[in-house]
Amino acid sequence: MYFITFEGIDQSGKSTQLKLLAGSATTAGIDTLSVREPGGTPLGEQIREILLGPEHANMDAWTEALLYAAARVQLVKEVVKPALMQGKIVLSDRYIDSSLVYQGIARGLGIDRVLDLNLGATGGLMPDLTFVFHLGVAASRERLAGRDTAEDRIEGEPLPFHEKVEAGYRQLEEMYPGRIAGIDAGGSIEEVHARVVAVCHERLGLEL
Ligand code: TYD
Repeated sequence: MYFITFEGIDQSGKSTQLKLLAGSATTAGIDTLSVREPGGTPLGEQIREILLGPEHANMDAWTEALLYAAARVQLVKEVVKPALMQGKIVLSDRYIDSSLVYQGIARGLGIDRVLDLNLGATGGLMPDLTFVFHLGVAASRERLAGRDTAEDRIEGEPLPFHEKVEAGYRQLEEMYPGRIAGIDAGGSIEEVHARVVAVCHERLGLEL
């Protein structure tokens, strides 16, 4: 039915908010499917290991963009499109906007070129609604430091990279105001959830 994506810098709380929204939808009797990128298919999970593991410190930015797109194609064809056809709401933890921001802006490949690649690969599937959770870079780094798991290859990038990511999301929000809703990720989990539910109501007419 609707394809809703969740975006933001690391530790912005988007995954928690995705789960909460899925729970609210289920309670309201709406069928949902939750996925995450990169991954969500057997092939995609293998690509995820290549992308996020520490082995490939010398990975070229285009290799990175192509691998994210490759995992995405499998997910769209095997999982997302079939679920949408069945009338489900599909919630995705990251999608095309992550590539536009991380590879297009932060790695400098160019938004247009990365968008073209991804539109071709996915058959042009764009989200109906995208949430971008805004948490300053400093707060994100603080939350990362407090976590006990090791940083992945992208999280380990230096600070200016993450600053470009945060600024990149704001740039996308200005480019696509009809599709992207910026959400203040500050406050309690429940407060942020209420903001998400309100936007679902305003933009898609969902009663959650
Ligand atoms: P993940 O462990 O799923 O982290 P998060 O909870 O932040 O989503 O790691 C995904 C990482 O991959 C994250 O640092 C962002 C990056 N990424 C890209 O660079 N491009 C993309 O297209 C996608 C989907 C993710």
